[in-house]
Amino acid sequence: MYAESFQKSLALVEEAREKNIALEPVRMTAEQKETLLATFHPDYKADEFVTLTVGPNKGDKVPTELGEILQAHSRITADSVDLNAPDYDVDVLVIGGGGAGTSAAIEAHEAGAKVMIVTKLRMGDANTMMAEGGIQAADKPNDSPAIHFVDAFGGGHFAAKRELLAKLVCDAPEAIQWLSELGVEFDKTEDGTMVTTHGGGTSRKRMHAAKDYSGAEIMRTLRDEVLNRQIPVVDFTAAIELILDDKGNAAGAVLMNMETKELYVAKAKTVVIATGGAGRMHYQGFPTSNHYGATADGLVLGYRAGAKLLYAETLQYHPTGTAFPEQIFGALVTEKVRSLGAKLVNVNGEVFMHPLETRDVTAASIIRECSERGNGVETGNGLGVWLDTPMIEKIGGEGTIEKRIPAMMRMFGKYGIDIRKEPILVYPTLHYQNGGLDINVNGMTTNITNLFVAGEAVGGIHGKNRLMGNSLLDIIVFGRNAGINAASAAKNTEVGTLTLDHIAKFENELKDAGITTDTVSPKLLPDYTRKVNA
Ligand code: FUM
Repeated sequence: MYAESFQKSLALVEEAREKNIALEPVRMTAEQKETLLATFHPDYKADEFVTLTVGPNKGDKVPTELGEILQAHSRITADSVDLNAPDYDVDVLVIGGGGAGTSAAIEAHEAGAKVMIVTKLRMGDANTMMAEGGIQAADKPNDSPAIHFVDAFGGGHFAAKRELLAKLVCDAPEAIQWLSELGVEFDKTEDGTMVTTHGGGTSRKRMHAAKDYSGAEIMRTLRDEVLNRQIPVVDFTAAIELILDDKGNAAGAVLMNMETKELYVAKAKTVVIATGGAGRMHYQGFPTSNHYGATADGLVLGYRAGAKLLYAETLQYHPTGTAFPEQIFGALVTEKVRSLGAKLVNVNGEVFMHPLETRDVTAASIIRECSERGNGVETGNGLGVWLDTPMIEKIGGEGTIEKRIPAMMRMFGKYGIDIRKEPILVYPTLHYQNGGLDINVNGMTTNITNLFVAGEAVGGIHGKNRLMGNSLLDIIVFGRNAGINAASAAKNTEVGTLTLDHIAKFENELKDAGITTDTVSPKLLPDYTRKVNA
C-alpha cells in the first residue's frame, strides 16, 4: 500500500496500463546505446576511478574503493605464522563456499583429490544463494551454443576472452544436466520439458529457472552434495593471504578464524580462489543486491601475490534494485519480472525503453530518466521508476506471479505491496563484478602456477557486461573446470619451501610508490558502523 505522495503517479500508471501493454518499445541503435552509456553509466564516471601505481596492473584504472584495498597492507607479516608446521595439508584448497567453490570441491573430490573448503561465513553464504532469475543454456531445438555465444559476446561489448566464453556456452547444456542429476528441481511443463524464458539481450528463450529462487535451489543441492561426500568445510574462517612456494607457485593460504582471530596455515598443492563478488564495497555509494561477505577478497589475495586482473574497472549495476520500501533498499528484483512482461514506466506513466535491453543499457536508461529527464518518482530515499508488475497477470493470466515469481511476491508482500495489483519502484543496484583475476581456459591464473580461480572472482568470461543467467552458469562450468584441473595439477605437484615473501615485496612497492595508507586488506566484511562527526 503506497502513501498519498505516490498516488498521483500511480493513477497515471494504472490509466496507461492497457495502452502500455500493447506498446512495442523500439530497441536502441548501437550508437544510441554508446552515447547513453558514456553519459549515464557509472563505469564511465572518470572521477570515481583511480590509477593503480603498484602491482601487476600498474597503470590500470579501478574503482576508487577497490584501489584502496588493492594497494593496502597485509593483515599479517611473514613471521606471524609458522609455515613449517601447517595446520592443514591437502591436495586442493578451495577458498569460498558458494556455487563455484562447492562445484570445484565436488569435482576435485570426484577426481580423487584430498580437498578442503574454507569459507569466511558458512557454506552457501554467497551470491549464488541470492540469484533469482535463472541459468542460461542453449539446449532447445531452436538454439545452439553458437547463438548463445553471439548474444553474450555482443552483450559484453565484444570484450570477452573468446576461449572462456566458448567454454561457457558449449558446456552449458551439460551443466544443466549435471545439476538436474544432482537434484536441482528446475521448472518443467507437465510433459517434463524445461520451461525457458528470455533475459535481457538473449535472442532465444534459454533461461532455466527454479521459480525466482534458482540460486537457492542450486546452492541447496550443491551443499547437500558436499555434505554427502563428507568434504571437509572449515567455516567462519577467512583466507587472508596466499602462500607461495620457493618456485613462485601457489601452495596454500594463511587462514584466520573470524571470531577468535587465530591464524592457521593451510598447505596445498593447488589453490582455487572462489571468493565471489564485491557488492558490499558499495562502489560510488550504490546499494547492493549482494550477500554480506561480497568484499572482493579474492582479487586482493591474488593481486598481492602477483596475479593479474582483467576488466576490474567494469561493474554491473542491476537495473532493477528495490528503490522502495527502504527496508529492502537495493535488494534484487529479478530480470525475470521483465521477461514475464512487466515494463519500466516513468512518473508520468510513460514506457521509456524496451524492458529487455542489456543490463548496462537498461541501468543507464533508468538513471537518465531520473536525472536528465526529471521523470523519476520521489521515493523518500532517492528516485526510482515504476516496474509495472500487474502487467504480468494481464499478459500471462491470473496466478502467473504466484507461480513464476513467488519470492518477489513475498518480498514486497511483507511491506503491504501486492505486486499482482500494484507496480513496484526500482533503481539500479550494485550487482556483479564483471572483472576479476585473469585465467586461461583451464581455470588457472595466467601468471601464477597452481592458482585457479572460479566464479565471480574471474575476469574476462563475460567481457565488460554480463547477460542475466550467465553467472549461475559460469559458477558451475568454471567451478567444475577449476576443480577438475586443480585435482589433476595436484597429482604432478611437489610443493617446494613455503614462503610469504610476496608480502614484504608488496610493502616495498607501496613504499617506493609513496603510498601511505592505514588500510589493511582483504576487507572480509563491510563496515556499517555509524560514523559520528567529530
Ligand atoms: O535478475 C536476475 O535474476 C539476476 C540474474 C543474474 O544476475 O544472472
